Amino acid sequence: MEPKNAPLVLIERETAAPVETIKFNRPEKRNALSFDALRALHRELRRLATDREIRVVLLRGAGGTFCAGMDLREASAGAPVPRDALREFEIPSLEREPDPVPVARVVPRLVQEAILRVKFLPQIVLGVAEGAAYGGGAGLLSACDLVAASDDFRAGFSEVKLGFLPALLEPFLSRALAPKLLYELVLTSRPIDAKTARELGLVGSVVPKDRLEAEIQTLVETLLARNPDVLAETKRLFAKKTAPTPNEVDAAWKIHCESFESESGRRGVARFFGEKSR
Ligand code: ACO
Repeated sequence: MEPKNAPLVLIERETAAPVETIKFNRPEKRNALSFDALRALHRELRRLATDREIRVVLLRGAGGTFCAGMDLREASAGAPVPRDALREFEIPSLEREPDPVPVARVVPRLVQEAILRVKFLPQIVLGVAEGAAYGGGAGLLSACDLVAASDDFRAGFSEVKLGFLPALLEPFLSRALAPKLLYELVLTSRPIDAKTARELGLVGSVVPKDRLEAEIQTLVETLLARNPDVLAETKRLFAKKTAPTPNEVDAAWKIHCESFESESGRRGVARFFGEKSR
């Protein structure tokens, strides 16, 4: 059971250093990204975009799991979202959708936009890869500037196994990750271990689970010792080169939505929840 009224995203600020942690907080659902969780994440990412104090952001999940990607249950059966409630995200393609907008169209677009926002934050974002990262969760990790993984980490893109196209994240992943391994990963939907995730380029360092916090601490201290303006400008330089265009993002989203809503997609998601397809 999910605890009622628990914040879906926790924000923790260090008192002695300009460091903030954003923590997905739905451990019972392996931190799957629902509309409300994404709204909380976006609000914090928008706030950080103009914050000049925080220099390092840790992105991680509660309960020893990073994030299981899009909330498949909500995306397949959740209530539509009134267009007015989407204005705050300032995403033109959502504002052009007929009102109300099916949540199956909203959630994936917000996942893409969160990836872009992480990529363009002025702070250096350090992803903490523990447990599992699937689909949009792995997409978010791919946008982090650095990723420290514990050796129990697994990553996967299960879209093909579920029966829909792995289109949503393609414009991000194909720019960031080793092509042959990525291709194998999306085609087989087989999860990979931390070592392979490093070969793929999804994570940077891999350490034993009991050394993860020390590794994070070392990375944070190293970043804080660098010139903040030079760091921020360096990040911007690389982000510009590896970010897809708005048209590519929109096109990927449309292919995803069509495929997710197809019979094969509906059946696969129902199968994941052990249900008969509707
Ligand atoms: N959406 C909704 N609910 C989810 C999701 C998800 N993506 N992932 C896990 N859950 C729920 C499960 O339904 C289960 O709920 P229940 O307790 O009410 O039955 C709970 O989280 C725990 O899940 P388990 O599968 O029991 O956890 P386990 O630790 O064994 O496995 C793992 C974790 C590997 C992440 C597994 O849950 C999984 O494969 N999830 C699906 C991941 C996925 O396919 N994501 C891609 C989405 S597509 C995209 O993001 C573009």
